[in-house]
Amino acid sequence: GKGIAVLTSGGDSQGMNAATRAVVRVGIYLGCKVYFIKEGYQGLVDGGDNIVEASWSSVSGIIHKGGTVIGSARCKDFTTRPGRISGAQNLVDRGITNLVVIGGDGSLTGANIFRQEWPGILDELLAQKKITEEQRGKYGHLNICGMVGSIDNDFCGTDMTIGTDSALHRIIDCVDAIVSTAYSHQRTFILEVMGRHCGYLAIVGGLTTEADFVFIPENPPLPDWPQRLCDKLGQEREAGQRLNIIIVAEGAIDRNGDPISAEKIKQVVVDNLHQDTRITVLGHVQRGGSPSAFDRVLGCRMGAEAVMALMEATVESPAYVVSLDGNQAIRLPLMACVEKTKAVAKAMEEKQWDLAVQLRGRS
Ligand code: F6P
Repeated sequence: GKGIAVLTSGGDSQGMNAATRAVVRVGIYLGCKVYFIKEGYQGLVDGGDNIVEASWSSVSGIIHKGGTVIGSARCKDFTTRPGRISGAQNLVDRGITNLVVIGGDGSLTGANIFRQEWPGILDELLAQKKITEEQRGKYGHLNICGMVGSIDNDFCGTDMTIGTDSALHRIIDCVDAIVSTAYSHQRTFILEVMGRHCGYLAIVGGLTTEADFVFIPENPPLPDWPQRLCDKLGQEREAGQRLNIIIVAEGAIDRNGDPISAEKIKQVVVDNLHQDTRITVLGHVQRGGSPSAFDRVLGCRMGAEAVMALMEATVESPAYVVSLDGNQAIRLPLMACVEKTKAVAKAMEEKQWDLAVQLRGRS
């Protein structure tokens, strides 16, 4: 059978275990030898005990767990060619020519570079007699399939990344809890949510908790935002509301590109409205804990589709990323999605806010 390896890379997210489980089980079902690569790309570079064969039962009892049981890392070594050469050697030694990478756009870009360099790296290993002619012939092509695991929902090409739904559940639980104490004291709360350069968690978190105001990086507020914020909060209080909720994405900025921090917002509220105001930073609570039903199912579906994509791949196929389109699991060319994701970042850098929002699209 074919050799498949699976690794998780970058920030963890809920549902990664469901995805790993599906890769292992569908792979074994189809007669493949499936391997775990532990600790992300670092495990690929280091080899040894980090690369172990998976069995059907080795993925029992993990679907309900948050995080990733095979470990994850942000790895510097794999960004260097010697690191990738070492990774290739470790794969060829085990007859692995199919790689599933579960991670964000950086991790998936790394996978694509690896795939492009693969034939050259194998030639180098052959010249150094670290692999045989037979291995060079047999394992000459590396198939890659990516899956997007990230709570941020920041990848163009998929409606939802694995982990986003669970993070939203966590955010909703937290805001609901805050609302009850805010009500008692007639307070205003500013909640900072994750999402780096993506406002999805803030926007949907705000919508689902009746927040009064939301700050996101893709569509920064107009310069008179302090006035508009205070007007809005004032109106709600006059209408009888006992509390206010403001949600700020950790990467929120103004139209100059300067950060709009929770502290800055608090200052505006306190100076102008003299409201009793508190800040809560949700932080890694959003990334931890058990995955939602949606993320478990998403992980299962994406994992199964990734294995199918690898089984059907030919030398001509591009590296794929599996994604969710409506209710459909589909395969897309990995690099086209990475390029589009980078175009969003570029539009934001160039302060082309309309373009950034438009490019972000459904994700
Ligand atoms: O990309 C996922 C994410 O949780 C972001 O929302 C956040 O900015 C970042 O990772 C935090 O990274 P770390 O866990 O390394 O502190």
